[in-house]
Amino acid sequence: MRLILPILLAAVAVAAQGQSVATPEAIAALPDRPGKAGVVQACSGCHQPDIVLGLKRDAPAWRELVDQMIARGAPVDEARYEEIIAYLAQAS
Ligand code: HEC
Repeated sequence: MRLILPILLAAVAVAAQGQSVATPEAIAALPDRPGKAGVVQACSGCHQPDIVLGLKRDAPAWRELVDQMIARGAPVDEARYEEIIAYLAQAS
């Protein structure tokens, strides 16, 4: 019985951090520029964040895609939205 409380607390701590499937390799593959942290945070819940590399898209096209990801549940912080779009338009 004594084990239950620590296990519960650990489960809550994991849930509070949000889900992330990002591997260190995928994170390292993304160029280090302002906006990277926002992309990693918002775009690692369902697939690797480096899914964005190699896609030739301009900012309007990224807005459309990011809006689709938000509709799917991507946790994009409103304050970081523009930074994320700018990062993606440069990195891809
Ligand atoms: C809630 C889950 C979820 C999150 C979070 C998420 N995505 Fe996705 N993403 C998906 C799913 C599901 C697909 C594949 C299905 C599809 O393309 O319709 C996908 C596919 C993609 C693709 C491939 C689309 C293509 O045209 O080949 C890109 C690029 C992408 N996501 C970028 C992002 C970016 C950038 C973010 C962060 C802003 C993000 N995703 C966050 C669920 C998510």
